Amino acid sequence: MRNKISIIGAGFVGSTTAHWLAAKELGDIVLLDIVEGIPQGKALDLYESSPIEGFDARVIGTNDYADTADSDVVVITSGAPRKPGMSREDLIKVNADITRQCVAQVVKHSPNTIIVMVNNPLDAMTYTAYKVSGFPKNRVFGQAGVLDSARYRTFIAMETGVSVEDIQAMLMGGHGDEMVPLPRFSTIGGIPVTEFIAPDRLAEIVTRARKGGGEIVNLLKTGSAYYAPAAATAQMVEAVLRDKKRVIPCAAYLEGEYGLNDIYFGVPVVVGAGGVERIIELPLNDEERALVQKSSNAVRQTLETLKSL
Ligand code: 2OP
Repeated sequence: MRNKISIIGAGFVGSTTAHWLAAKELGDIVLLDIVEGIPQGKALDLYESSPIEGFDARVIGTNDYADTADSDVVVITSGAPRKPGMSREDLIKVNADITRQCVAQVVKHSPNTIIVMVNNPLDAMTYTAYKVSGFPKNRVFGQAGVLDSARYRTFIAMETGVSVEDIQAMLMGGHGDEMVPLPRFSTIGGIPVTEFIAPDRLAEIVTRARKGGGEIVNLLKTGSAYYAPAAATAQMVEAVLRDKKRVIPCAAYLEGEYGLNDIYFGVPVVVGAGGVERIIELPLNDEERALVQKSSNAVRQTLETLKSL
């Protein structure tokens, strides 16, 4: 039997995620949005590309959560994107309300699903989804690290002129400008990245990666990135549905790991059929620990704002 994947929110990220998932033949796809016609139109259009591209995936669009029933994975993308000058945190009020409503409906129709959160502010919205769902922590996690490390890997490839395929880069922290790319845990073909790029230049690349989302917002002016966020989401869904045991950074619920409690935060995890199956604790040095602490303070502050709403 085919897997069933529902995507909540048929905007650019949601529909592009549907595209990547269909192309990978990961299962049948339900694209849901509150706007009538948009999910139906985008889903049908995508479905009609299948004879050309040769993928067997049924793609339907809907405004009714009943159509998402018994999904294996649900991806939540709904919410407002950033505009130039906005931080991800500026979206908190509107997206928290949307997240609460979406998650309640998702849980009602798919009580055994795995939820992948994509909307911003990412760590706080994933925390919200976890609390509203009542699911065990392994079944709710957030996309951020895969996207952020993909940006970091792209910039390393641009700098060195080598294949992106050979660049492995770890990154931790909240999905904000305080995120923590980790050059010490980044390699090119197994060789430390520091052998290829001088420290000053690497520091500039790290800064660009941290502000990578804002760079796209400033270029687009009318919204935020979607190709890379959607590709990152599809990789996480694939890790679950194919039980791949991928080692990737995701926003996971921490209970003491890295000295943090009751928070969703980007850390290296093992993702397989159970969702987040394991959290990996890296042996950080003092400098890295301080950066992680700073990033966690920023996420904590957003969580406090969320609780006061
Ligand atoms: C980004 O970093 C939208 O937060 C997303 O592009």
